[in-house]
Amino acid sequence: MDKKISLTGIKPTGIPHLGNYFGAIKPALQLAQKYEARYFIADYHALNTIKNPRELRDLTYEVAAAWLSCGLDPEKVLFYRQSDVPETFELSVILTAFTSKGLMNRSHAYKSVVDANKEKGADPDHNINMGLFTYPILMAADILLFDSDFVPVGRDQKQHVEIAADIAQTINSNYKKQLFTIPEGVYDGVNETVLGLDGRKMSKSYDNTIPLFIPEKQLRKILMKIVTNSQEVSEAKVPETCNVFAIYKLFASQEQQNALAAKYRSGGMGWGEAKQELFETMNAVIKPMRDIYDDLMADKSKIDKILALGAQKAREISSKKIAFLRREIGI
Ligand code: TRP
Repeated sequence: MDKKISLTGIKPTGIPHLGNYFGAIKPALQLAQKYEARYFIADYHALNTIKNPRELRDLTYEVAAAWLSCGLDPEKVLFYRQSDVPETFELSVILTAFTSKGLMNRSHAYKSVVDANKEKGADPDHNINMGLFTYPILMAADILLFDSDFVPVGRDQKQHVEIAADIAQTINSNYKKQLFTIPEGVYDGVNETVLGLDGRKMSKSYDNTIPLFIPEKQLRKILMKIVTNSQEVSEAKVPETCNVFAIYKLFASQEQQNALAAKYRSGGMGWGEAKQELFETMNAVIKPMRDIYDDLMADKSKIDKILALGAQKAREISSKKIAFLRREIGI
């Protein structure tokens, strides 16, 4: 039997940080071993918020380079840029004809902005572009174009995957035919919470992120900013409630964790020392990936080539799908 298809989109709206690595990149790459994976950079989704061309271009490269250096193998995973697959946008037009406005009104991403506007006493439509309003339709097009069975995403995207399934069902039942595979979200392991510098969930909006691939010196400097309590060096410390230790656990082996925990409990270790241990352990894991990342960013034509080849393969699938759909719907 054919392998099931796993598809996800990566919105290039920020430089990849540890939260992205453990919450999205790693689980998606694990799924890629089991399923036929199709992963793409959702640059047109990013356009809704990023209106500076240079920034959008840079972020697209940074995100592509990050996934490649974390182990995405473009020979095994179909890796492409959404904007290179124009069939996505044609499908999006088809889907709009089957999507009730009410369904879009109920979309959380849109509704939360409307609610915030109302709360401020502003016009409910303030700062809302049609891209935000129809965001779930474009995302449904991404998903349905490639016959995705599974969509690994964070829980914040759950409703969007459900909307895609909903639209697919509406169309299948209109034509009394399985025109689309009904997608299913996969949330396990995705968005595993990584704590940021201040102990809250690591997130760009909290400004507490640790970027994945910054130069060593900068990484060390950022780690020194992790918020700790104000215990003296001599005092015994509690690893379970410490932000430094929480991040250490993501990178350290069980033995390393036990050893550092023992140092915490026996006292005599200051926060600077704990952070230095974190830096060394983390850097050892990240360095080989960072080397690949730096290499790709120094010669972006390598990224361009990979994405161009991905686009070519993606379009072999998408152009067939669109030709099929056009016939079925009478266009
Ligand atoms: N909306 C997703 C996010 O913000 C990105 C995305 C775009 C996506 N298209 C997709 C995810 C299709 C999964 C499938 O993270």
